Amino acid sequence: MGSQKTDIKQQLEETREFVNSLLKRYLRPRKEVDPRLQEAMEYAVHSPGKRLRGVLVLWACELFATAENRKVEAPAAAIELVHAYSLVHDDLPAMDNDDMRRGRPTCHKRFDEATAILAGDGLLTLAFEILGKDVSKAEIAVRLVAELAEAAGVSGMVSGQMADLRAENTPPDKKLLEYIQRNKTAKMFAAAAAMGAICGDANGQQIETLKEYGMKLGLSFQIADDILDVSASSEQLGKTAGKDAEQGKTTYPSVVGMEQSKKLLEKFSDQAVALLGDFGDEADKLRQLAVLLVERSK
Ligand code: IPE
Ligand code: IPE
Ligand code: MG
Ligand code: MG
Ligand code: MG
Repeated sequence: MGSQKTDIKQQLEETREFVNSLLKRYLRPRKEVDPRLQEAMEYAVHSPGKRLRGVLVLWACELFATAENRKVEAPAAAIELVHAYSLVHDDLPAMDNDDMRRGRPTCHKRFDEATAILAGDGLLTLAFEILGKDVSKAEIAVRLVAELAEAAGVSGMVSGQMADLRAENTPPDKKLLEYIQRNKTAKMFAAAAAMGAICGDANGQQIETLKEYGMKLGLSFQIADDILDVSASSEQLGKTAGKDAEQGKTTYPSVVGMEQSKKLLEKFSDQAVALLGDFGDEADKLRQLAVLLVERSK
């Protein structure tokens, strides 16, 4: 297990670097783009993110197709652009009002609020431009657009974010908590896994399985995020710790307590692994990823 662990960490690091190279390519300067906007978008994207959603797209595809499958590069970059936008807007004074992100001042602190709003708008739209232009098979492109739009939009993250803000300083509500976590975070992980599977020409049943795996992974990921907000330091996280309690957020620790949160984190991770039961060794990376996310410290 010791060496397996080093392996998965190494593979994660390499794939993360590959996602970084895709982001460099897809966000390269274009002459018509306003230079301040370009700078703000690059600032938000080329900061040290974990790139987990991009990695998930690539690894889910690899389960069904070769690693050289070029059509998966656009969606891996696209979902990270959408994620970067979501962080820029999440940090705005009107939302979580955060000063620190990925170990640096937040986008609106480094630039200004209007620039941060527009940089977010730019990143979100660019993601769909890339899917429209850079996925050669039209039928695949349309399915990827639908998956990403559904997960990021009003049927997913946007509603999750709305509910997260509306739930501030309200009594603990487990149903609402589950709605928030599923929508603001887990659906993006589900979409990442589904998009990878679609690029790998997986069948309908396989795509559904990967999507469910992504959902469980995303749920355990957000519980870990909530736990770390309580237990880790700002230096470790690269973002301000202790903010959730300060803002009266509806989180796993605030609703079910720390012990139960840790149990649920493991439960969702175990369920993610169990969903891959029908696959062979080729799914080991995805299994180990689910385990790694339980143990993460940032
Ligand atoms: C932070 O996501 C926002 C959540 C959904 C919890 P990540 O923890 O994946 O952020 P980066 O991309 O690594 O900075
Ligand atoms: C944000 O959740 C989820 C998004 C859709 C961006 P949080 O507000 O908990 O994320 P952090 O803790 O600021 O990264
Ligand atoms: Mg938030
Ligand atoms: Mg936040
Ligand atoms: Mg958080």
